[in-house]
Amino acid sequence: MRYRCASPSEQDAPGPVDARALISLGREHELAGRLREASDQYADAARRAHDAGDAAHEAEALRRLGVAHHRRGEGPDLGRDLCRRAHDVAVAAGLPVAAAEALNCLAGFELEQAAYDSARSIFTAALELGGSSARLRGRIQQNLGVLANIRGDLDEAQAHYQGALSAFESSDDRQGMALVYHNLGMISADRRQWTDADRYYRRSSDLAAAQGDVQLRGLCLLNHTEVFLAQQQYASARQSAEAALQVFDELGSGDGKAAAYRFLGMLYRETGEPAMAEARLRGSIDLARDGAFPLEEAESLRELALLFQQTGRNQDSLRSLDHAHRLFRRLEANLDVVDVASRASRLEETYLVVVRNWGQSIESADRYTFGHCERVATYAESVARALGLDALEQTTIRVGAYLHDVGKVRVPHEILNKPGPLTPDEFRLMQDHTIYGVELLASIQFPWDIKPIIRSHHERADGRGYPDALRGEEIPLSAQVIGIVDVWDALTTDRSYRKAMTHEAALEQMAQSRGWWRKSVYEAFMAAIGEPNAQTPFPAVQPRQQFRSTALP
Ligand SMILES: [Fe+2]
Repeated sequence: MRYRCASPSEQDAPGPVDARALISLGREHELAGRLREASDQYADAARRAHDAGDAAHEAEALRRLGVAHHRRGEGPDLGRDLCRRAHDVAVAAGLPVAAAEALNCLAGFELEQAAYDSARSIFTAALELGGSSARLRGRIQQNLGVLANIRGDLDEAQAHYQGALSAFESSDDRQGMALVYHNLGMISADRRQWTDADRYYRRSSDLAAAQGDVQLRGLCLLNHTEVFLAQQQYASARQSAEAALQVFDELGSGDGKAAAYRFLGMLYRETGEPAMAEARLRGSIDLARDGAFPLEEAESLRELALLFQQTGRNQDSLRSLDHAHRLFRRLEANLDVVDVASRASRLEETYLVVVRNWGQSIESADRYTFGHCERVATYAESVARALGLDALEQTTIRVGAYLHDVGKVRVPHEILNKPGPLTPDEFRLMQDHTIYGVELLASIQFPWDIKPIIRSHHERADGRGYPDALRGEEIPLSAQVIGIVDVWDALTTDRSYRKAMTHEAALEQMAQSRGWWRKSVYEAFMAAIGEPNAQTPFPAVQPRQQFRSTALP
């Protein structure tokens, strides 16, 4: 998980000394991460201000108390109640800016709960009510920027952040400037503008240090680590992540620590220390699970999957992805979280990287079929489109294409590469790759139904295929799609027992065997691949190294 700073609080306002002094003391505790002490001061301030009939400080103390309770993780309801009371006190006393401050906090809670529409309308109401205060205007603009950022609208987010920066500069609000620089750093990182990100995080961190804002300094250190990792500045990345870990450890922030462990795991993975990488990533997963931070847990599982993939532990990799996938599904079911959708789609990309690389590593044992999986995946997807299959079915076919021959890892090398025909025993062993494949993946749940492809891609509609001699419609459609492209690719590439056929000769041979496939599949194949002008350019086989870069966000 990455961290954006919302703006729930303001600077001190003038007022009777008792309540005002207590609020100042509370602020000092809060900035230093001593939330319990801060709460005590705010509660005392609210009581004294109430007794003195000082509505401005009563509203401020109640609001700050609400935020402190919220940050202590004491459930959203108490924080909300206190901020609503702050709002009501301010409205009754005719204090629009103070009322808007309370609305800003309430909207911030909505934002954290991923209730984005509600957050946006409350922020907008707060801006209308209290926009005359530059400090408050800056914070609300900042929060609207966070909202746009989560929704993926980087241009809108940047515009809100720039508006916030102007408002903070005009009121010399250094804490506000520190927060906005941090968030501008995050936008730059999202856009992979690493030099800008580096500059913004440094400015934010310097201002945060000058203000004694430990939490923000921790966030800067954490997010700066991502920039260093992307620029392969590993020594700086380590320093930054370890410093962030120390800050979050002192603050008792479980999700911050989990994220710092995740970055350290990524660092060790990128610098070729897999054992350390695994230890750190597992540490992150445990912390995130114990603290109930499922997004962070899922992110760390995805990074662990990439580590396993790099070290050839393909089944472990897929198990980690499956676990992350289930966490995302649960979140999507419970919350309208836009961010979850983009993270889930990144997870899907990682699945494809892992299965593609596994498919390619299987091919490397069979020197005649290099590039086969990539070609089958690309052409099978074209056939799936010609059949009118939907996006989910197309992805199923792509993933199934990469793994359709995974069972060949159990077929002896000399049989796979034997020049000349196989003996009946050898042929039976070769046929078993369909069953071995399903066995190998038995313990892995996929988001796509690929096991029928692995088991049945050598079935024939005439009932003369293997392993189950299925007929016609009994054969899963996805398996038939992979099956027909598999045959075409085998005919048009060199094999250990014969040279490649021309495209036309292969089509002629397939026309003689058209009873192997159901009619719709044969026709879709001809439309997508078979027609003289239908053949798409031969896909280049991607070097495996290319995908390493996806290990970094
Ligand atoms: Fe096969």
